Amino acid sequence: MALLEVENLNVEFRGDGGWTRAVSDVGFSLDENASLGIVGESGSGKSVCALSILRLHHRRMSRMPGSRIRYDGRDLLTLSNRELRQVRGADIAMIFQDPMTSLNPVLTIADQIGETLRIHQGLDRAAARRRAVELLDMVRIPDAARRVDEYPHRLSGGMRQRVMIAMAIACRPRLLIADEPTTALDVTIQAQIMQLLRELQAEIGMSVILISHDLGLVAEFVQRVVVMYAGHVVEEADAADIFTRPLHPYTEGLLRAIPKLDHDARRLPAIPGNIPAAGNWPQGCRFSPRCALAEPACRAAPVPLDALATGRRLRCPPRRAIARDGMPEAVV
Ligand SMILES: Nc1ncnc2c1ncn2[C@@H]1O[C@H](COP(=O)(O)OP(=O)(O)OP(=O)(O)O)[C@@H](O)[C@H]1O
Ligand SMILES: [Mg+2]
Repeated sequence: MALLEVENLNVEFRGDGGWTRAVSDVGFSLDENASLGIVGESGSGKSVCALSILRLHHRRMSRMPGSRIRYDGRDLLTLSNRELRQVRGADIAMIFQDPMTSLNPVLTIADQIGETLRIHQGLDRAAARRRAVELLDMVRIPDAARRVDEYPHRLSGGMRQRVMIAMAIACRPRLLIADEPTTALDVTIQAQIMQLLRELQAEIGMSVILISHDLGLVAEFVQRVVVMYAGHVVEEADAADIFTRPLHPYTEGLLRAIPKLDHDARRLPAIPGNIPAAGNWPQGCRFSPRCALAEPACRAAPVPLDALATGRRLRCPPRRAIARDGMPEAVV
């Protein structure tokens, strides 16, 4: 049985003119101890999906019609608030992009980490502090016994993100959702944090969902990749296949945008055009206005997400026809 199964996830937000759909019919599943990446440009719906899993959207300003999110056999969308609080942190933990806004500036590291431990594990103050030092050791913060009494502003960005990770793993979650965990960090620190996450995943034996706009980073870290565009999934495949044989023209565009070592990252060809605003999607293929391969049929009607024999899922009939003819390599 899968640890997490997301099915037909639709997320709508209330605005002045009524409800706007930000994410539609998203589905994926994740086994115990497995890793999944969600990639896509800014605004494609990655964070909305992640926040939906823990039901972190504003209650009255959002709704999720027809959606199902099953964790360990339980439907997260029908849990009571009390059950949901138990799942958050203890079973499923989350880390975000900006570690400064998520840390409370007036609490020491010991108190921030301790709060989670006192709530979820009932530790007293002294025990929570001891455990906080252990956790800082686990995330390789040097001199943990001293650092634990410092305030967040004394730490570098990379160290703060390590503290966030320490808080996330405090209760040994079975699933960690990392939403752009390294985007605010420079490249060397980014590599160190990814290495740390990899080691912790093995040590704790947890599943990881890694969200990023950087397909290169994701493909290196996870087993399976979901590519999102304009609020839905356009391709899903094993990381190695996505990287060597992208089928969706959008995935290809993302791959081309990965900085190469011998190029200046800022001069790489981005995908021309812009991602449409939430709900403001073309009626045919949502990517068709930006797609060099779009045919009249692509623009005429919504395009289904097809399951291919190879275990891939693809929302692009022209490319699917090529893949079926057994020459997917030819399209790269
Ligand atoms: N609370 C909200 N109310 C209304 N619209 C929202 C809300 N949250 C997100 N959206 C819209 O949903 C769409 C998807 O946003 P989301 O934050 O999931 O993108 P993302 O893929 O995480 O992008 P980024 O890479 O910039 O983090 C966007 O069009 C966004 O404006
Ligand atoms: Mg986001």
